[in-house]
Amino acid sequence: MHDHLSSRSTVSSFFYPWHFIRKSYYLMLCLVWLSIAAILTGCDGTTENNAEQRTNRDFLSKHWPDILPPQGKPPASFTSSDASFDPQACGVCHVAQYKQWQTSLHSHSMGAGIQWQLQLMSQQAGNKCLRCHAPLAEQKALVALQHNWPNVPASAIPDWVSPDLADAGLVCAACHVRRHQYFGPPAKQTANAEDFPHAGFTASRAFQDSRFCATCHQHDEKKNPPRVNGKLQEDTWNQWQQSPQAKQGIHCQHCHMPERQHLWRGIHDADMTRQALDVQLQVKRTGVATVQLEVALHNRGAGHHFPTYMVPKVTLVFALRNTESAKVRVFHRYVIGWQVNVALTEEQFDSRIPAGETRHLQIPLNLHEGGSHWDIELQVEVAPREHYERTFQQSLQHADVLPADTLSLLQKALKDAQATRYRLLQLRKPVPPWHIAN
Ligand code: HEC
Ligand code: HEC
Ligand code: HEC
Ligand code: HEC
Ligand code: HEC
Repeated sequence: MHDHLSSRSTVSSFFYPWHFIRKSYYLMLCLVWLSIAAILTGCDGTTENNAEQRTNRDFLSKHWPDILPPQGKPPASFTSSDASFDPQACGVCHVAQYKQWQTSLHSHSMGAGIQWQLQLMSQQAGNKCLRCHAPLAEQKALVALQHNWPNVPASAIPDWVSPDLADAGLVCAACHVRRHQYFGPPAKQTANAEDFPHAGFTASRAFQDSRFCATCHQHDEKKNPPRVNGKLQEDTWNQWQQSPQAKQGIHCQHCHMPERQHLWRGIHDADMTRQALDVQLQVKRTGVATVQLEVALHNRGAGHHFPTYMVPKVTLVFALRNTESAKVRVFHRYVIGWQVNVALTEEQFDSRIPAGETRHLQIPLNLHEGGSHWDIELQVEVAPREHYERTFQQSLQHADVLPADTLSLLQKALKDAQATRYRLLQLRKPVPPWHIAN
């Protein structure tokens, strides 16, 4: 679609990088999660009559507009820590939430992977990314200053806005503070109103509703977002709605914020991924030198497709080990995921497993010789950012046209993405001897 290689040869070398960048770079190299809706404001017939859901939806359409307005001047009664959006300031009192948040991907949402791309973007395009990665108006203003973008506030940065906020990612205040008013879920126990800092808080059950997360984890169909093979790039909330868990009233927060923890573990975490995927392997002898593998892959623990996005890939590697000679031969690979090309125009395959469903694989195997000294080994490998690895690798082919600091960020982004790979599990099963088969 965006044929950058042909445009390369036709543009003068001076003008070329910017032409190249504008015309193709961010169109091709970023996952274009553009023009994403605030919230699913529409009605879905099944839940229409539920008063609480309607109340949550009303709350969320105000809480998550497309563009968060500036918070404005803090009330005169506020201490400097009440007025601060710095997560560290919240952390002085909310120690547990701060410590947990620091280890979460929400606090790393302004990593090298987005930073190198922002350097090549216009303010308008960049702000579309920041809507999910650093959504406060104050963060966008700071990022604009960093990048010399044209629209920056005329006045100096107020002292309640810490300059570090630009790179702090999805901060506490982005979810909890609007116009210096604090919001949260209904309190677990009643606090003494008199020694309440930050003028108390307004409670809303919308914090416990999956729609709260849909703001950034679901593309809004009404806004005509980009699709691949007719499918939305982000469709987690819709997948959840179809899941057995949704029917039992289990929301995103139950699994991703158990006990209200601020960890948001997902596919980057081996324990979390093990909760999702159950792997059963059976080895059947079908002849003197033939074997049949029967594999059942069950999405028992994710309340959406396993995995939900096109980004991660989970690879099953099947190998045959001769227990006498210790020789190992890999004979089959199977990838679970939604594989899309880097230009985001073509689906290569989609083997994601919907919530609660099981996929069965039958894999015939020839041992080449008889005998019973064989083991089948299955290793399950997870690449949580596989799509980005491919994208960044392709971008590196154009290293010569990138500014030096952009290039080093891109190299770091690729390294960071590769470093997230891990082994999920390893199974070993003997091949049964031929005479007891059948
Ligand atoms: C609708 C919300 C949304 C928008 C808009 C958005 N992203 Fe993301 N982004 C996410 C989510 C959710 C993830 C994590 C899941 C994943 O890996 O796909 C993510 C992950 C990423 C990652 C991988 C993680 C990392 O830190 O390396 C990169 C890079 C990235 N986004 C870049 C961008 C860029 C560039 C834009 C603008 C073109 C953008 N995003 C716009 C929601 C969004
Ligand atoms: C992505 C949005 C998001 C971010 C970022 C976030 N929170 Fe929360 N927070 C929530 C949600 C949602 C709940 C309610 C969870 C539930 O009830 O299951 C919550 C609950 C809370 C509670 C109530 C906890 C309890 O046990 O009653 C506090 C306090 C809190 N958050 C503080 C913070 C602080 C401090 C930070 C930053 C270090 C932060 N939050 C970052 C979404 C967020
Ligand atoms: C000086 C201490 C202090 C600071 C600083 C502070 N808080 Fe609080 N916050 C409290 C106390 C005390 C409560 C009420 C008891 C509780 O829920 O922990 C509270 C309540 C909350 C609640 C409601 C919890 C619920 O039950 O729903 C949220 C959300 C919250 N704070 C978020 C924040 C965020 C975000 C920041 C930083 C921008 C922050 N707080 C800074 C002390 C503080
Ligand atoms: C029943 C528990 C459960 C529910 C409900 C649930 N998740 Fe998950 N989620 C998981 C598990 C387990 C994983 C790890 C395996 C995986 O990636 O599918 C995961 C992974 C993820 C990931 C990692 C990225 C990826 O491609 O898989 C994101 C993002 C995510 N969930 C967001 C959400 C959102 C948003 C909701 C609500 C609309 C939600 N989840 C509901 C259990 C749950
Ligand atoms: C303002 C936008 C925003 C909101 C609201 C939001 N997220 Fe996220 N979330 C992101 C972005 C951006 C990332 C990716 C960060 C990165 O890796 O760079 C992410 C990452 C995650 C991950 C990590 C996935 C992985 O690959 O392991 C999980 C899980 C997750 N979010 C769950 C939730 C849940 C549950 C909620 C609702 C309580 C929620 N998010 C609300 C923007 C958001």
